[in-house]
Amino acid sequence: MPIYQQLGTIPPKRHTQFRKTDGGLYYEELFGTIGFEGMSSLLYHTWRPTQVKSLGEPYDVTPRIAVTNNMTMRKLIGFDVKPAADYLDSRTPLLVNRDLILGLAAPTGAPMTYFYKNADADELLFIHRGSGKIRTPFGQVPFTYGDYVLIPRGTIYQIEFDGPDNRLLYLESHSPIYTPKRYRNHFGQLTEHSPYCERDYILPRDLETHDEHGDFLVRIKKQSHIHPVTYETHPFDVIGWDGYNYPWAFSIHNFEPITGRIHQPPPVHQTFQTDAFVVCSFCPRLYDYHPLAIPAPYNHSNIDSDEVLYYVDGDFMSRNDIAQGHITLHPGGIPHGPHPGAYERSIGKKETQELAVMVDTFRPLMLTEQAMAIDDGRYFASWGEGVNFE
Ligand SMILES: [Fe+2]
Repeated sequence: MPIYQQLGTIPPKRHTQFRKTDGGLYYEELFGTIGFEGMSSLLYHTWRPTQVKSLGEPYDVTPRIAVTNNMTMRKLIGFDVKPAADYLDSRTPLLVNRDLILGLAAPTGAPMTYFYKNADADELLFIHRGSGKIRTPFGQVPFTYGDYVLIPRGTIYQIEFDGPDNRLLYLESHSPIYTPKRYRNHFGQLTEHSPYCERDYILPRDLETHDEHGDFLVRIKKQSHIHPVTYETHPFDVIGWDGYNYPWAFSIHNFEPITGRIHQPPPVHQTFQTDAFVVCSFCPRLYDYHPLAIPAPYNHSNIDSDEVLYYVDGDFMSRNDIAQGHITLHPGGIPHGPHPGAYERSIGKKETQELAVMVDTFRPLMLTEQAMAIDDGRYFASWGEGVNFE
């Protein structure tokens, strides 16, 4: 996250004595990436953040794979994922490869009685329904409909929802999630041609500093296991921090679409990049304005990637029989394109209200048992002439 932030109280010089009013020291922690070379933050804890009290038995949360070799275009009925009270229990992995887990969750907002940390992966939550906040040692990040919430690996957090009706798309990425490099200049600033800028970032606020001793259970995800670790002091005991590595959010509604006289390729919608996949936002926008333009996309062979689309809102112009919460998977190696009639139907249209999130993965995706349970089973044949969607 290449923007410097500071919250709370920090000493004027790093790695020097920083004392409490009683004369005791605050405890500095470097929270960094890529060894000591990448983005990092310095946090000042009231107590040492290393005081493990007890260890629970780790349990296996490896996604159960149903289809390893997939060459079938699929549609998953995302809202058929059942709500669950507990946040971690509600997370339902659907599409998986060695780089990421993509899943859906419908947590009903039961208060979290534990803290959670993903030590393996950056997490990206997309809020389809509901609102609330994540609480972290860096402060709180509020979220609402349309927000992407990016949580760097290693961040301890709790999530709180304002109500029971919540729908999330989530990604766990083993490769760090960044803003696209081509949107940033040599200095790290987002340039004039970027579809969003630093003002659009939702940054941590309302720092919480809990000076508490007790039993604080942190469920730590590492190597597909949850390790229950109980700490002596409250994980949110930070008096101040500064740096570049922290959770933040960005609203899809602040993504400014790039349009043209003729059809623009999907990279104009890119929102995040990793070494293993990209995330794009398809937002309401004006259509192409060449007098002979065809606004619907051309057929394309995404030879290098599996393409996942999560449908959020609006009419999706290139698809028939698509509703909110659906996920389509177009595996690499075979072409896909507009549904029957959609190509012709798009001509002359001036704008679209479609809202969708796309994830293109560079390695093929496998489907979990939970994914196959919500697979419509007939999407692959939906491009045939005369297919009836009624
Ligand atoms: Fe596509």
